[in-house]
Amino acid sequence: MTLSTIDANGFPDARVLILKDIDEEGWYFASSSNSNKGEHLEINPHVALTFYWSLVGRQVRIRGKACDMGKNLSAGDFLDRGKVPRAIALIGKQSSILEDLHEVDEAVEKQLNRIDEHPDLVFPPWTLYRAAAKEVEFWQAQEDRKHIRLKYKLEGGKWIKSLLWP
Ligand SMILES: Cc1cc2nc3c(=O)[nH]c(=O)nc-3n(C[C@H](O)[C@H](O)[C@H](O)COP(=O)(O)O)c2cc1C
Repeated sequence: MTLSTIDANGFPDARVLILKDIDEEGWYFASSSNSNKGEHLEINPHVALTFYWSLVGRQVRIRGKACDMGKNLSAGDFLDRGKVPRAIALIGKQSSILEDLHEVDEAVEKQLNRIDEHPDLVFPPWTLYRAAAKEVEFWQAQEDRKHIRLKYKLEGGKWIKSLLWP
């Protein structure tokens, strides 16, 4: 899915992330709170999530607010990751400037050794977030181009459903 956030200057940013889970409370994703997106969410928790399935011609758009799920669930998410993704996160430099590609191999190797010594090692900034929606739009492509758009908006605790013009 694409997660859109807003930086301290009100400038939007977007990137693809793994959808970790979904339940009645919202959509879950995980990343380092030290990353750009983590810093954006710290200042402004408003987010948009966008999904597109080209084979079925379907788009889902969500607007809402993200919250931090806390240390225990975040640690659980971190430990569910493979060894290499954990090692990469443990380097703790996501989105900072990399001078030379070779530095990655050395840094990953070092963190893999740390994981071998301490298999329960958790990267403290790793955070599981949940985005709770206030608006959800389902867009369904139609062969005749009269695409169907269905919008749900949360108002006073109730979901108000409307059709939108394509
Ligand atoms: C298919 C795909 C899945 C990804 N999943 C994640 C993820 O779950 N968590 C994450 O932090 N980055 C993930 N990334 C990398 C992000 O797109 C992004 O490059 C990174 O998180 C840094 O973003 P930021 O600088 O805006 O914080 C994924 C990238 C792709 C293409």
